[in-house]
Amino acid sequence: MTVDLDAAVFVAGHNGLVGSAICRRLRRVGFRRILTEPRSRLDLRQQTSVLRWFEQNRPDYVYLAAGTVGGIAANSNRQAEFLYDNMMIHANVIEASRRVGVTKLLYLGSACVYPRLSAQPITELELLAGPLEPTNEGYALAKIAGVRLCDFYREQYGCNFIAAMPTNLYGPNDNFDLESSHVLPALMRKFHEAKEAGRGQVEVWGSGSARREFMYVDDLADSCLFLMDRYDEPGHVNVGTGVETSIAELAGMIRSIVHPDAEIVWDTSRPDGMPRRSLDVSVLAGLGWTARTDLEVGLARTYAWYLDQLHGDEAATAAGLRLGGEHHGFDGKRAEPSRADRSQVVVS
Ligand SMILES: NC(=O)c1ccc[n+]([C@@H]2O[C@H](COP(=O)([O-])OP(=O)(O)OC[C@H]3O[C@@H](n4cnc5c(N)ncnc54)[C@H](OP(=O)(O)O)[C@@H]3O)[C@@H](O)[C@H]2O)c1
Repeated sequence: MTVDLDAAVFVAGHNGLVGSAICRRLRRVGFRRILTEPRSRLDLRQQTSVLRWFEQNRPDYVYLAAGTVGGIAANSNRQAEFLYDNMMIHANVIEASRRVGVTKLLYLGSACVYPRLSAQPITELELLAGPLEPTNEGYALAKIAGVRLCDFYREQYGCNFIAAMPTNLYGPNDNFDLESSHVLPALMRKFHEAKEAGRGQVEVWGSGSARREFMYVDDLADSCLFLMDRYDEPGHVNVGTGVETSIAELAGMIRSIVHPDAEIVWDTSRPDGMPRRSLDVSVLAGLGWTARTDLEVGLARTYAWYLDQLHGDEAATAAGLRLGGEHHGFDGKRAEPSRADRSQVVVS
């Protein structure tokens, strides 16, 4: 790394799926000054508070991984909140970073920002090339504004602000609340609860035909540190695995790990979302970075983590799953309560 390990690094959203993985990776690499602030002490939607915090703490590097995030249901039912919260958070953190002279900022965009009918796999050039997916338009508009802010701040102020566009992510610290989670943790929880309750059927939203790309979050964190170190250009960079998986295939893999005897019942009255979405990752590959964690390996690690949160490590061990692995990095040393402590993961 050319980034100084004594640099002050602020991870906004450190309790979340992405932020916690970035913190794990930073610790693993040896960064000594990782700055975090719980939402209860710093609401990133509040401009004055954000600016004051930046003036007091003077970070050198910023990973902007905070935001209001969720699956199809949360996105489509709470569009105003997704648009407002994310616009405010991104604008406040980016502007405060400029004002205090942050050396470099990495903004987390999302593959959801690309048009609904983008050519697949989606290249970086598809941004703003067509209408958005209506079910997450509010979120997408905010994320697009964040991506463009980074480029405009570079153009107008000379700020070294970059943007990564991750595909669907999963892993430790994911949100398993069925009301607001993404498809992968929702499926994992549904299969788990069916197994615990002795139910032989699991209902899954949609037809199973939609195709997505799923990336283990510790791979994403690794790519973020890589980009922070090596990428200083305008324009966002896609981050993904380059591997497409249908929801039916994903459900099948999760069933094998969690509840192999279950029958899957498709609820086709529910929306599928975009028919296909996977990212063209050739720009990132050209820079020298590729993802390493196979989906089945990542799913097993995630389920081990989930069981650990519910019942402790013995349950994961008893199920033949382990929390280890070079990329896992979960060390149980979170400064804040884990997401699982705070959300409704516990199955009664
Ligand atoms: N998850 C994915 O599949 C995915 C895919 C592509 C891109 N991304 C991007 O990655 C970023 C992080 O996503 P994630 O999945 O890690 O989300 P997440 O798990 O929900 O974490 C979001 C984090 O942001 C914090 N936060 C939210 N509102 C805040 C506020 N007003 N003030 C301070 N902190 C606030 C949350 O704090 P609390 O802990 O207090 O709730 C949480 O730590 C987002 O920008 C998202 O667009 C995610």
